[in-house]
Parts: sequence; C-alpha cells; structure tokens
Amino acid sequence: MSKKKLVFSGVQPTGNLHLGNYLGALKNFVSLQKEMDCIYCVVDLHAITVFQKPNDLRENVFETLASFIATGLNPDRSIIFNQSAVSGHAELAWILNCTSRIGWLNRMTQFKDKAGSDKEKASVGLYIYPNLMAADILLYKATHVPVGADQKQHLELSRDIAQKFNSDFNCKDFFPLPEPLISKNVARVMSLRDGKKKMSKSEESDYSRINLKDSADDIDKKIKKAKSDSEPIPDNLKNLEKKPEALNLINIYSEISKISLDKVLNEMSGKDYSFLKKNLTELLVKEITPVGKEIKKLLNDKSHLEQILKKGKEKANIIAEENLKNIREKVGLI
Ligand code: TYM
Repeated sequence: MSKKKLVFSGVQPTGNLHLGNYLGALKNFVSLQKEMDCIYCVVDLHAITVFQKPNDLRENVFETLASFIATGLNPDRSIIFNQSAVSGHAELAWILNCTSRIGWLNRMTQFKDKAGSDKEKASVGLYIYPNLMAADILLYKATHVPVGADQKQHLELSRDIAQKFNSDFNCKDFFPLPEPLISKNVARVMSLRDGKKKMSKSEESDYSRINLKDSADDIDKKIKKAKSDSEPIPDNLKNLEKKPEALNLINIYSEISKISLDKVLNEMSGKDYSFLKKNLTELLVKEITPVGKEIKKLLNDKSHLEQILKKGKEKANIIAEENLKNIREKVGLI
C-alpha cells in the first residue's frame, strides 16, 4: 500500500458559510495544506440531494470556492474543484452503492434529521448520500479527512465501505481506511440561540450563526443577542456542563484567541458574560470581516474563479481516472 498521506475534504455549496464551517473545517484545510497534499472539493452533487434552484446553485458554487480562497487555500498548492466536473465521483458512487449495505445507511443519523418525519418524500439521493461521500474520498485514495464532528458517522461508513470493497475483491489495503481529522474544541460549533443544536445554514434564525460575510455590526448584534448565562463566568469547566450556550461562547473565544480553555476561565472567572462577549466580538470582527470582504471581492471576478475550477478539475481528473482504471479492473468491468 502506498504510504503517501493525502487529504480530501468537501463543503456543500448551499449558501452562506458560517463560523462552524470556518472553525470546524476551513481553518484546518488551510493548515493541512502546509504539511500534506490536499484536495478540496465544492460538493455540488451532494447539494442537489435537496432541491436547489439552478441559478442559486451556480452562484453558491462560486461563493463556496471564494470562501475557500478567502480563508487561505492556495490553488497552486492544493487541488480545488467542483465535484460534478469530475465524473469519476458519480461512477465510483454507483460501484460503492453496490458495496454499501442498506442496514448501514439506515443507521445514519443525518439522514434521519434531514429527511424529518416524512422519510417517504426524501430523495433517494439524500438516502445514499453517504455512499457518494465515501466515493469522494476513496476516488483519490485519501488517507486523512478534516471534518467537523457532525460528519464522523459518515467517515466511519466510508471506512466500512473501503474495508468491504478490499475484502470482497480480495485486494487487502487497496483502499486506505480514511482517518477523520476533527479538531477538539470546535468539533461542533453550536447555535448562538440554542447550545444543544449545531450552528447550521439551515437554522431559520440568522441570529443563530455568524456568517463569513457578516459585517462588524451584524457580528456585534448577534453576539450581544447570543444566549449565555445570568451567573458570572465560573472558574472551571465542570460548572459549564449544564450551560451549553455559555460553554459554546467560551469555546469559540478560546479557539480564536488560541488561549486554552482553562486559561480563559482563569482570566475571566467572576466576570459577567458581557465582558466575554465584548472581547469575543472584537476577536470575531478582526478574524471574520476580512474574510467576508475578500469573498465579496473574489466574487467580482468570476473568470478568475472559473480558471481555478478548471485547473483543479484537470489535476483531480488525472488522479481519479488512474484510480478508476484500477477500480474497474478489480470489479471486473471491461
Ligand atoms: P457541510 O457542507 O455540511 O459542512 C462543511 C464542513 O463544515 C463542518 N461543519 C461544522 N463544524 C463544526 N461546527 C459546526 N456547526 C459545523 N457545521 C458544519 C462539517 O463537518 C464539514 O466538515 N457531507 C459533507 C460534505 C462532504 C465531504 C465529503 C466532507 C461531501 N463529501 C468528503 C469530507 C469528505 C457536508 O455536508 O459538509
């Protein structure tokens, strides 16, 4: 087996990226590109598992790409492209649909959440979405996958699929078993309105999240309105266990300031949450608003963004076609 480390990850183009995507995924993408070969994908085929207006989808692919670049991904260093441009994703997904088991998919909690109470009306694509995700990763034989904690179960399924394929076709180690890279503190950035729910694009209230394109004023208002706690900041984590909103704000502060949680509590214990919020707002404005400005600037030059996608697609396709040739051979396809 090739010992070469290769990173793959993807983000859905379904609208505004937020602080959860930024801390849980994008920031890791950027730091990994300094150490390993990386492939980052705007996963448009995943997005259409829920109906998207075609014009919105096109716009959102550009916006997601612009967010990648504005955060610091470098197209000369990493391969950056949109999923549908490399047809190998769809082809391998079909092959893996035949490897993956219905029982495995039935356990996926994200399908249950997204399909809601009327599962009969969900698209078949939404149900088999985790197989496409496995195909994304295995198409490149990626070894490491930076994601937020919400994708952990899908990653485990990808490993099961890889293992079953290797065993079915008697090709031990053909697909590496991809390892999730999940950052500890911000594995799950929570909603600013309800600390038991993750921060998400689909939550109705815009006050539940900080978007990468938010202005300083938006950030200020949202943090001011964020739920916290009426008691002062405690001096230890244990006292925050039943206060998920307060813990979430402290986690975000700790992650962006790069000050450990214990140290933050040490420094802030006894103070009101308004003190934390003021400091957090300053940090967020400094970190997020330049990214938002850069996204808007990049979106003014679509031909530059198209060039990035074209170059990325060409590079991705070379690896994908080479691997697919071997995969077809293993399966017995002529
Ligand atoms: P998506 O588009 O929902 O989210 C993109 C990335 O952001 C992370 N994330 C979060 N992290 C921390 N806190 C949050 N509140 C939060 N919300 C989102 C996600 O975990 C993800 O890393 N299925 C994937 C996309 C995908 C993919 C792949 C990922 C498709 N193929 C192959 C890795 C490898 C998704 O829907 O992510």
